[in-house]
Amino acid sequence: MIAFTLNGQPVACDAPATERLSETLRERLGLKGTKVGCDAGDCGACTVLIDGASVCACLTAAAQAEGRRVETVEAQTPTLTRLRAAFLRHGAAQCGICTPGMLMAAAELLARSATPSPHEVETALAGVLCRCTGYRKIIAAVCDAGQGDGGQGEAGQGDALAHDGSAIGQRLARLDGAAKVAGDSFGADEAPAGALVIMAIRSPHAHAAFSIGEMAEFASTPGVVAIFTAADIPGRNAFSAIPAFADQPAIASSPARFRGECVALVAFEPDATPDIASFPIRWTQLPALTTPEQAEAAGAPLIHANRPGNLLVEGRVRKGDAAGALASSAHVVAGTMQTGFVEHAYIEPEAGAAWMDADTLVIRACTQAPAMDRDDTAAILGLPLARVRIIASAVGGGFGSKLDVSLQPLLGLVTLKTGRPSRMVYSRQESMTSTTKRHPAEMQGRIGCDAQGRITGMEFEGRFNTGAYSSFGPTVAIRVPVHVSGPYRTPNIIAKARAVHTHGPVSGAFRGFGVPQGALWQETLYDLLADKAGIDRLEFRILNAFRDGDASATGQVLQATGIGPCLEALRPHWARALREASHDRHLRRGVGVASCWYGCGNTGLPNPSTIRIGITPRGEVVLHQGATDIGQGSNTVIPQIAAEALGLPVTEFRLIGPDTTLTPDAGKTSASRQTYVSGRAAQAAGAALRRMILRLANAGEGATLALDGTVLTIRDAAILRHLDLAALPPDARGYALSAEETYDPPTTGLDADGQGKPYALYGYGAQMVELEVDTALGTVRLLKFTAAHDLGRAINPTLAEGQIEGGIAQGIGMALMEEYLPGRTENLHDYLIPTFGDVPPVESLLIEVPDPEGPYGAKGLGEHVLIPTAPAILNAIRHATGAEITRVPALPHRVLAALPQQVLAALKGAP
Ligand code: FES
Ligand code: FES
Repeated sequence: MIAFTLNGQPVACDAPATERLSETLRERLGLKGTKVGCDAGDCGACTVLIDGASVCACLTAAAQAEGRRVETVEAQTPTLTRLRAAFLRHGAAQCGICTPGMLMAAAELLARSATPSPHEVETALAGVLCRCTGYRKIIAAVCDAGQGDGGQGEAGQGDALAHDGSAIGQRLARLDGAAKVAGDSFGADEAPAGALVIMAIRSPHAHAAFSIGEMAEFASTPGVVAIFTAADIPGRNAFSAIPAFADQPAIASSPARFRGECVALVAFEPDATPDIASFPIRWTQLPALTTPEQAEAAGAPLIHANRPGNLLVEGRVRKGDAAGALASSAHVVAGTMQTGFVEHAYIEPEAGAAWMDADTLVIRACTQAPAMDRDDTAAILGLPLARVRIIASAVGGGFGSKLDVSLQPLLGLVTLKTGRPSRMVYSRQESMTSTTKRHPAEMQGRIGCDAQGRITGMEFEGRFNTGAYSSFGPTVAIRVPVHVSGPYRTPNIIAKARAVHTHGPVSGAFRGFGVPQGALWQETLYDLLADKAGIDRLEFRILNAFRDGDASATGQVLQATGIGPCLEALRPHWARALREASHDRHLRRGVGVASCWYGCGNTGLPNPSTIRIGITPRGEVVLHQGATDIGQGSNTVIPQIAAEALGLPVTEFRLIGPDTTLTPDAGKTSASRQTYVSGRAAQAAGAALRRMILRLANAGEGATLALDGTVLTIRDAAILRHLDLAALPPDARGYALSAEETYDPPTTGLDADGQGKPYALYGYGAQMVELEVDTALGTVRLLKFTAAHDLGRAINPTLAEGQIEGGIAQGIGMALMEEYLPGRTENLHDYLIPTFGDVPPVESLLIEVPDPEGPYGAKGLGEHVLIPTAPAILNAIRHATGAEITRVPALPHRVLAALPQQVLAALKGAP
């Protein structure tokens, strides 16, 4: 028996002495606020205090707590209360999975340094990773909490809830924020009583045949309840994010096509510990084609006989005569760019639970796409849709990879076949090896301009390693050519992108769908072209920026083009930064700029969202919102839009989150579509409900609404009406009043030359970075980002800034440190993501060029913000040193190898 004090109370439990304290707290003592992201001391999500000192609970044996004082995020101390309020005020929690660890590390800091400096905060919290926020708002929140009650006090959520005027443009604290700072309930936190634990058997090889031997002995291992293979899948053993390309099995038959692929499942009792390594399986390695070059040379299809040359999809855009335009251009530049696999590295590994509710299979898991999960899971398990219910847990980061159905069919299979609840939590390695990555890209081409610097034409060709299965490979291949001009007038263009199968990890959606890779190519070449034309790099971009009425590469006439204002907003910052640049020491300081544009939603395909709002007879306003909030803020932004349209305070709304039984389909959280598409549906539903109310009251459009208990008061210049909601006959859903509306963006498919209207609206942005390169070491120190983003209308500026800062942090990783190498970087120790010290201050400039298609003019933002970061960094490195980096990440050895001779010579001559 181990006894200690837990959050001020004595506890005792019979945990084994060597059990991880995180396990003891979560599984034996039921405190799920302590999160587990790696079980290896790398992420800090499990940080707790022992006798006031922060430790990783995953590396602390339960016995080490004996007789000591343990504090977790569930503790109610004045310091934690202040910190929680400050986190809410500053928007310091996005997905929230890192938040408990951050809070505990911050609590330790405040105990020894009551008013810490930003640098002290960075140092004290450095052991906790965050993949969402970019850390700056966390630093601000901890510093603020250190100020005690002065000014902001403990209002936090109260500040937000006090507001009752226009909901648009307000810096409301997250409406779901209180749960996040209390240790929200994520996929791993649901543990139905007696749930079987599921573990997957996965391929250790990139390509291997396998045979499963005699299972009787393994099956008789104490606690093992069932074993499943592909033969047990009752339905269509294939899924894809795009149904027409369904090719990935939930459980593979021989051969396995990538390292980490699931080939069998073991379900066991919760207290059992079977030796999974003794599972009877024999592997025979097969030749692995791990690069697109090998795969294209091999010719033989890897996956489907109808995919010759291992080509999944080729996307193409052609307008005008690119070759002719380049031939007659005053200046032409040519170049290549190469990128590697990038891991999503959300701090929450995939996790969930399943159970039966009568004959309905219920799965609660972390997901970006509950309706899509239901459809895939039902197809795989051979069930009608009505028998599958998906409930989204809180999602600890997604960034695209939690779009693909992953563990949901596995949970469903075990529960369906055994009749028992089940749980599955991926290990960090399992999450990294088995889920999708950003596509590695090899890109090349030419861009030309006339003597005045106006872009004349572009040729682009890209090859994208889409791995063993399709996932979102088709989307990437089609989206890249559409965007590769950047937000610039390009009268002549031929752009092609191929998604090619290999035996690599499956590449899929990752914040930007290939557009960030394309931007690395185009934006670094635009710098070269500006230099050749003798034009300032920022002014070159302003000269060529889209204006309203311009036609894009796909022939779409553009409106609400915000790129010009974004670039112009950078002008004073650019002038200052150029003045401060210095090229005369071994530490060289440079400045770089890059732009982005990004179409919100699916590319030329239907993409509807449906939102329902009801007012109960008891006077409660209920928002049924199936749009999953993975940290980006739709649980706050969409209520703000709905409240504005309905005319009642956002504080009156109760949210029913994504649940395929309770919420209509609001589509996937992807492609920066939720604020725009689901926002438009929420706006329409709010407006419809308002019309209904005004009609009942015979009131005019300008009337105001107010709820007091069951009485809805409608007031305009001429009338004052009271509607007794309890007296109205309830509708079919039990509401006194309700409305449900659907919005689908008006787009058209692309023709064979990629011509059409692929997106109904675009967001724009431009980022500028100042940095310092150590020419002796090849290291890069980032000093400051200035980021101007046109988001149409800032529904919630605090959340918008959080998106910008978080996107920049991921862009920094892509530019300077991140490359996933199968077999080598399958944990958060070897795969480095930006930490506190890697993200410099970010000055966000929110530009509002309203788009008539968006809700109150709003455009998407979440994916855009990562696109310009990496190319801006490469452009700044070249400005500082002359080094042209053509492969990311720009690791020190690559920077050193690219340094021009004169820089090396100057270095030798330097003291
Ligand atoms: Fe303990 Fe990651 S779970 S450090
Ligand atoms: Fe930090 Fe998501 S808010 S990992």
